[in-house]
Amino acid sequence: MIKTLIRGTGRYVPERLVTNDDLSKKMETSDEWIRQRTGIEQRYWVPEGGETGASDLGLEASKIALERAGWKPEDLDFIIFATLSPDIFFPGSGCLLQHKLGLSSTPALDIRQQCTGFIYGLATADAYIRSGMARRVLLVGSEVHSTGLDVTTRGRDVAVIFGDGAAAVCLEAVETDEPVGVLASLLFAEGKHAASLMLEAPASRITPERITHEMLDEGRHYPKMNGKLIFKLAVTRLPELTLQIMEKAGLTSLDEIDLIIPHQANLRINQFYQETLKIPEGKIYNNIQKYGNTTAATIPLALDEVIEQGRFKKGDTALFLGLGAGVTWGANIYRHAEVLPSR
Ligand code: COA
Repeated sequence: MIKTLIRGTGRYVPERLVTNDDLSKKMETSDEWIRQRTGIEQRYWVPEGGETGASDLGLEASKIALERAGWKPEDLDFIIFATLSPDIFFPGSGCLLQHKLGLSSTPALDIRQQCTGFIYGLATADAYIRSGMARRVLLVGSEVHSTGLDVTTRGRDVAVIFGDGAAAVCLEAVETDEPVGVLASLLFAEGKHAASLMLEAPASRITPERITHEMLDEGRHYPKMNGKLIFKLAVTRLPELTLQIMEKAGLTSLDEIDLIIPHQANLRINQFYQETLKIPEGKIYNNIQKYGNTTAATIPLALDEVIEQGRFKKGDTALFLGLGAGVTWGANIYRHAEVLPSR
């Protein structure tokens, strides 16, 4: 059977460190409020001035992942780029990254699943690989949030949460009957909650010109969030999702999972989740304290860190899961392994 294995990972965050105290100089907020409500201590944002898009951060992360996989860009036969903050409205950041990697015809697919972008991306890559459509896939999650945030008191509930960053994984087809690689994926969406977390303009549905001066004045080009609803959805659905995907993967106990990487939207969400399922300390990895919420980059960024720290070894089983705008939610179970490529 064809299975999907991770061959290399890489992460990249821009150098500009923004602390909670830095934000409190721009809006009415405080280090204490941000830490207590979200767990976030700092985040990294792209430099002011210049042009750094999601594909630029993605490029840096991709170079590291490719090097660790021992691959050249030419070895790729598919690119999947997950972002809610594309460099430009169109074409997709995957096409921009493909060119920056020096490639000329490798297909590139953008996906727009926000905080579940990596999870949808891994499920998509796995489906392409298992169907024989691709053998070597580069999956990138990358976000430049900072240029789209309302960094004033009006936008403080959202602005303090998000950080910029990117991470990439190299995925390869292997032929094996061992239970390794992506063991299961489960994806969901509920569009009725779309307005609970959205960036409404500029948009094609707004006539005559996608955005008006009034909308700009009202700040409708910034993301708006019903934080309480998203919080509630996350703390109820993530535990349910865990049991659902374990069943799909044929796992009967949480003891069979060595590592859980939940999306990093709010440390309190992850603490509720941990308490609900009585997950032992040390099994869940959180790094929101350092990066804030980096949306599609979050899970691969954490994955790259745990591999680097030796906390996710060959033979270990990991659960990736998250919920975000859409709303979308989903999970993957992945067993790390060393299996030789089948070509
Ligand atoms: N600094 C200081 N005060 C702030 C603030 C900030 N950055 N943001 C909001 N406040 C204020 C509010 O104005 C409100 O003031 P009021 O009581 O005078 O009206 C008060 O703090 C409480 O706001 P509230 O929105 O009720 O706080 P909360 O406990 O729900 O926390 C979030 C807000 C955003 C941290 C929380 O709702 C959350 O994390 N939600 C989920 C986010 C998420 O998962 N998103 C999906 C992925 S992107």
